[in-house]
Amino acid sequence: MKLKTWFTVAATALTVFAAQAQEMSDDEIADRIKPIGQVHVAGAQAAGNNAAAGGAKSGEDVYNSACVACHAAGVLGAPKLHVAADWQPRLDERGLDGVWQNALNGINAMPPRGTCSSCSDDEIKAAIEYMIEGI
Ligand code: HEC
Repeated sequence: MKLKTWFTVAATALTVFAAQAQEMSDDEIADRIKPIGQVHVAGAQAAGNNAAAGGAKSGEDVYNSACVACHAAGVLGAPKLHVAADWQPRLDERGLDGVWQNALNGINAMPPRGTCSSCSDDEIKAAIEYMIEGI
């Protein structure tokens, strides 16, 4: 083999090797990032599952995730959080059980379960109790 040819082969091999090394390190980076992402997501899912499986969500949690969008500002006439003037007439007329049933089934612009289809009946009731707390 002539010296010039040897250099050409060596240089080509080096180029190929460098390209492979680059690919490998990209894969390595991907592999290193992946488990961190997976652990993070798995942790979040575990927390979610615990909330679903490990007993009821608190009324405040349900309110903040499902009801706040309408009941904070009184959207479409929704009775507002902790505002007695909005809630008292409803409670006088129907009682807690009556407004609870309407929350489960929906009433006018109030969607069934306030769109929280995964909420249990008791979680909806807890959210109502949170909204009328102290009125
Ligand atoms: C899309 C907006 C919206 C969301 C989300 C929403 N509500 Fe309502 N809610 C309303 C409106 C509007 C009314 C008033 C309905 C009426 O009496 O005409 C209402 C009324 C109510 C009432 C009174 C029912 C009665 O008999 O007077 C309860 C209780 C209630 N909502 C509970 C909840 C709970 C609990 C959540 C969350 C899980 C929730 N709502 C989410 C809009 C909403």
